[in-house]
Amino acid sequence: MSIKEEVQKRKTFAIISHPDAGKTTLTERLLLVGNLIRTAGTVKGKKSGKFATSDWMEIEKQRGISVTSSVMNFQYNDLQVNILDTPGHEDFSEDTYRTLTAVDSVVMIIDATKGIEAQTLKLFKVCRMRGIPIFTFINKLDREGKEPLALLEEIEEVLDIETYPMNWPVGMGKRFLGIFDRHGKQFVKFNGNEEETYIPYEDLEKDEHQEITSQTAFEAAQDEVALLDEAGDQFSLEAVLSGEQTPVFFGSALAPFGVDIFFDTFISMAPTPQPRKTTEGMVEPDSPEFSGFIFKIQANMNPAHRDRIAFIRVCSGKFERGMSVKLSRTGKVFKLSQSQQIVASTRETVDEAYAGDIIGIYDPNAYQIGDTLIEGRAQFNYDELPQFPPELFKKVTAKNVMKSKQFKKGIEQLVQEGAIQLFRDKRTESYILGAVGELQYDVFKYRMENEYNVDVMFDTIGERIPRWLNSDEKVNESLFDERKLLVRDRDGNNLVLFQNQFALNWFKENNPKIELFNRL
Ligand code: G4P
Repeated sequence: MSIKEEVQKRKTFAIISHPDAGKTTLTERLLLVGNLIRTAGTVKGKKSGKFATSDWMEIEKQRGISVTSSVMNFQYNDLQVNILDTPGHEDFSEDTYRTLTAVDSVVMIIDATKGIEAQTLKLFKVCRMRGIPIFTFINKLDREGKEPLALLEEIEEVLDIETYPMNWPVGMGKRFLGIFDRHGKQFVKFNGNEEETYIPYEDLEKDEHQEITSQTAFEAAQDEVALLDEAGDQFSLEAVLSGEQTPVFFGSALAPFGVDIFFDTFISMAPTPQPRKTTEGMVEPDSPEFSGFIFKIQANMNPAHRDRIAFIRVCSGKFERGMSVKLSRTGKVFKLSQSQQIVASTRETVDEAYAGDIIGIYDPNAYQIGDTLIEGRAQFNYDELPQFPPELFKKVTAKNVMKSKQFKKGIEQLVQEGAIQLFRDKRTESYILGAVGELQYDVFKYRMENEYNVDVMFDTIGERIPRWLNSDEKVNESLFDERKLLVRDRDGNNLVLFQNQFALNWFKENNPKIELFNRL
C-alpha cells in the first residue's frame, strides 16, 4: 500500500470532557466497537479497586486516576483508529493540553444534566485556538437533563461555536424514546436495552409505529426538527473541518444508545492527517520522508527499567523500526531501534507507522518536548508547542539541605522535560514551581524522591494570575510584594504573579504605563 493510501486510512482523535461526563464509558464503548475489549467495564474501576490497564505509575494506583495519556488503536472497517486518552481528573496537567497538538480532531463530551463545565471549556479553548475540528456528544440522555435547545444555546454562547445537531432527542430520562437521526433520515428507537430499532422516516407513518408517533414528546420533537431544518444553521463539512461548526450528537454512553450512529458518522467525517506547518513551510503527510514531533516524554513507565519514553506524532513519510533520524534541534542522528506502540499498559513493537500514528521511542535523555525528528537531509522544525500559563504556584525546597546538588539536577531535568514550570523569586532567588493542575506537584514530588532521591517540601503560594512584563523596560522592584510577586521565568523574562483579579486591576489602575502580557 502506498504512503498516501496508508495516511488516508488514519483517524487520530482525542476525547475531552470534564470529569464524570462519561469519557471512560464512551471510550469503552468505542473499544468494544473495535473489539479491543470483551466486556464493558474493564477499562477502569476507580471505585472497585480494580485499576485501569492504562494506570502505569504507582501514583496512579494510589490516587485511582489516570495520570498519563495513553494511546489506543484499532481497525474499524478499513480505517486505522487512534484514540489519544487525555487525563480526565480535575488536576490534569500540561500533558493534557499537549496531547491536543497531536490529534486531527476531538470529541467533546458534555453531560446533559450539567452542560458545559470548567475543564471542557479550558480544553475547548485550546482546540479553537488551533482550529481542531470538534465533534460534540451530549451524554446521559437516559437521565433528566437540560433541554436540548438550551444545551445548544449554551454551547454557542459559552464556547462561541456554531452548532449543528446531527440528531435530535425525543424526551429524556424515563420518558426518553429515542432520536431523530437527521443525517441518516431515520428514527432510532430506544428500547431500554442495548438494542436500537431503526425506522426510516418514510415508515414512521405506518400503523405499527403509532404507539411512538402518537406520543406528545414525539410530536413536539418532530416539530423542533422541522424548525431546525427550516431555520437552523446549515450543515457545512467545511465549517466543521475548520473548527467553526460542531456537529452535535445526543445519546447515552452507558445505556448504550446512539453510540454506533455517533461513531459511524463521526469517523466518516473526521479528517485524516493533514499537512502540518513547519519553519520551512507545510509538510504533506504523504511526502516520502519520515518526520514527526515529540509531544510528551514519560519517565518511569516501567519502574523496573527506569526508562524514558518519548511520544512522537508521526507527521509524514513512513516510520520503520531501526531507521536513522536527525534531531532537528541539534543535528544529531539517532537510530530508532526501540520503537513501541503504547496500547494501554502493553507495549507492542512497532515496525512501521505513518502520519497520524503515535509511537513511543526510547529516549536516551536526548529529547525535549517539542523536538522535531526528520529522515534525510531536510531541515525544519514543527511549530513550537505552546507553553500554557500555569495557574497554581508553590515554593519548593529540599528537606535535606545536603542534597541541594541532586535537588537542582532533578528540578532542571524535570523542568526541561516539561513536567512542570520553574520560576525564580527575583528578591530571594527561591525556586517557585508553576503548574496547571495539582497533579503535576504530586508527580514532581514522586519523581524527585524516586529518581533523584530527594525529599521535597512545598510552601503553597496558591492560585495566581501570571502576567509578563515588557522585557525591554527596567523593572522598579519596589512596586512588587507578596500579593504581586515578581519572578523570572526560565528564559529570564520578568513576570508578576498576581494574587487575584482585584490585585491585577488595582495594579493596572495605579501603574497605567506598565504593560502586562498574558501568554495564550
Ligand atoms: P469520566 O471518565 O468522564 O470521568 O466519566 P465515567 O465514564 O467514569 O462516568 C462517570 C459516571 O457517569 C459513572 O458513574 C458512569 O457510569 C456514569 N455514566 C456515564 N455515561 C452515562 C450515561 O450515558 N448515563 C448515565 N445515567 N450515567 C452515565 P459512577 O457511578 O460515578 O461510576 P461507576 O461506579 O458506574 O463506574
